[in-house]
Amino acid sequence: MAQAARRKVLVTGAAGGMGRACARLFGATHDLVLTDVVATALDGFAEELKRDGYTVAASLAGDLSDDEVLAALVSEVSGDAPFTLLHTAGLSPALADWRAIMSVNLIATEKLLNAIEPVLVPGSVGIVIASVAGHMMAAVPEIDALMKDPLAPAFLDLIQPFVEQMGPMAGGTSGISYTMSKRATLAICERRAGAWGQRGARIVSISPGMILTPMGRQEMEKTAGAAQMADMAPAGRAGVATDIAAAAWFLASDQASYITGCDLKVDGGATAFVKSMMGG
Ligand SMILES: NC(=O)c1ccc[n+]([C@@H]2O[C@H](COP(=O)([O-])OP(=O)(O)OC[C@H]3O[C@@H](n4cnc5c(N)ncnc54)[C@H](O)[C@@H]3O)[C@@H](O)[C@H]2O)c1
Repeated sequence: MAQAARRKVLVTGAAGGMGRACARLFGATHDLVLTDVVATALDGFAEELKRDGYTVAASLAGDLSDDEVLAALVSEVSGDAPFTLLHTAGLSPALADWRAIMSVNLIATEKLLNAIEPVLVPGSVGIVIASVAGHMMAAVPEIDALMKDPLAPAFLDLIQPFVEQMGPMAGGTSGISYTMSKRATLAICERRAGAWGQRGARIVSISPGMILTPMGRQEMEKTAGAAQMADMAPAGRAGVATDIAAAAWFLASDQASYITGCDLKVDGGATAFVKSMMGG
């Protein structure tokens, strides 16, 4: 008997902690399209998955800021069938300077979503990993206005004075760049929900708290306050990558068909706890 075609899932950052967990969970029922900038790690993971019986439809190494990489990824998911996008690729303060963080977390996200939008079909779902950091920053209208157009000419130069001014009070220039980029990511998903809805598609973000992935462990070692964030979580533990994959699984499912244009915090309650401690 012919088998029904399986849905495809495009996982960015597939060689990273959350990317791997998402690929393994979704790969049980989906064909995998994997991408990451670290070719050796991606190739090794794709081979591991194939050995374990998963279907890896494509594994494409490259930088998500690269238009050719984006075009190749889009061609892997375009067609008549709905697909799922799981965008986990990102950089954090312990890993990169402020420009690289803004370039990957915000500029590449905007480019990826621009590239994907024309091939959405009814039933497609986009899940973008943001961060609770994005919920911690108060609105600054001038910055929010600039962050709405990260593909504007000289965007990084325009944002630089704010990064330099706020950095010393907010974990340095990399720290504030991360926070700004994630705040903007939350707004991107809200803003795009209308256009996605017109195509019968949904877009949501997930804001993880402290998650024990390669990135999360580095933050806990190197960034002031990161380990405390895990300690403060009412859930009584740090998160693990499968916590994020499980949330993504629900959000991608038909059970979540009325959920779009919003964010789900998967942080063990840490953000709520911090807010309550600050009198909120
Ligand atoms: N781990 C945490 O505690 C935590 C908390 C909040 C939010 N997040 C967010 O979750 C997402 C996933 O994080 P993770 O913990 O799995 O990190 P990770 O470092 O384990 O994985 C991220 C992956 O993204 C890839 N990547 C980086 N730059 C890229 C680029 N230009 N093009 C393509 N791929 C690129 C990396 O190679 C890596 O494999 C990130 O967006 C991160 O900001 C993580």
